[in-house]
Amino acid sequence: MYIKGVGMTKFDYSDKPWWNFVYEAAREALEDARMKISEVNAIVLATISSAAGGEHQTHKISLLSDLLKTNVPIIETPSVCAGGGVAFWTANRLGFNNVLVVSGERLVDSPSEVTTDWIMSAAERVIEQTEGMVFPAQNVLVWQQYMENYGATMDDLALIAFKNHQNAALNPKAYYYKRPVSLEDIKNSPVVASPFRLMDCSLSVNGGAAAILSKKEGEVEVIGSGFATDYLLTFGREIITHFKASRLAAKIAFQEAKLKPQDIDVAEVHDAFTSVELFSYEDLGFAQIGRGAELIRQGKVNLDGELPVNPSGGLKAKGHPISATGLAQIYEITNQLRGSCKERQVKNAGIGLCHNVGGVGGSATVNVLRKISKQG
Ligand code: COA
Repeated sequence: MYIKGVGMTKFDYSDKPWWNFVYEAAREALEDARMKISEVNAIVLATISSAAGGEHQTHKISLLSDLLKTNVPIIETPSVCAGGGVAFWTANRLGFNNVLVVSGERLVDSPSEVTTDWIMSAAERVIEQTEGMVFPAQNVLVWQQYMENYGATMDDLALIAFKNHQNAALNPKAYYYKRPVSLEDIKNSPVVASPFRLMDCSLSVNGGAAAILSKKEGEVEVIGSGFATDYLLTFGREIITHFKASRLAAKIAFQEAKLKPQDIDVAEVHDAFTSVELFSYEDLGFAQIGRGAELIRQGKVNLDGELPVNPSGGLKAKGHPISATGLAQIYEITNQLRGSCKERQVKNAGIGLCHNVGGVGGSATVNVLRKISKQG
């Protein structure tokens, strides 16, 4: 399948219903593809919709029919933070000529503790959460084990946050657009779950993103698409320092694409926490196990490095509206391959990768996209 169009709202705290973000992103993707809704044969929707303050609507597919004025089949793939990636994986396999894949979330509409409780419905509630395992706490335990095993440091994570903030400052759709953050501010931000600081966490925001997939040739082709799942209990897994679901999804995507990790020119990696970006370099095959930190220390993943990672600013500084994140990654990589990212444009981007994770590695998708060279 080919990506004919992409759309994305600004990621911020805009106080609108979730379907507003869906509508805005879908409309932009249709305009970008120069298509009418009547040409779309099916829709895939990923949303967990709205935290405590919003409307509880379980018949979202009918609401979408009304909103977009269409009667085509609509499929929902709610898969928490991996929702956008799972929707994209599904749309790619449906077999329809033109598929709209879309997500929108109103995540931040309540006090922080309510949003946190709601986000935590994406993790194991009985055994781990009764021990205080909210996401920053779960992820920091994984990171402590990683540091112990491989000798990476908090300074490595600060560099990742700094890189992503620098990139977001160049991205008009990122929350931190034109608001650079210094390395010192990152290192001095409040401790959230020791040794994680505020600047190691992704930024919860509201927003939407969309893409149009088509059988008809376009500028960008989906050449590999992997999806894998893993146990809900983070600490019931064999290996806790890495995500098996990411590794499996990457393996499938690379096999389908007939490519190796070294062939990737630009990547959007799921930095739910800075530590997740670091060990995902290894899960995706960009670095050997235990050597991911070298990529950030040597600047290889910077915007002007060999393999720029998260040119959009990532979940850290662009923002993380749960399900919309996976499609925002597709938005960024599609535009990088088209060469339309202006100040944050990566040089010679021919092959791009999107890595989207649900929870603490309970699900993951990896999509590999290729720029189609113009003939003649
Ligand atoms: N980076 C930078 N600034 C952040 C931030 C982040 N990750 N998270 C929150 N802020 C800012 C807010 O913008 C707000 O700024 P303001 O005062 O200028 O408006 C301020 O910090 C307070 O925000 P609030 O959400 O009330 O903070 P909090 O201390 O209650 O919670 C976290 C902060 C990081 C603990 C919480 O947002 C969190 O748990 N985030 C992770 C979300 C998550 O797990 N997502 C799923 C990943 S799988």
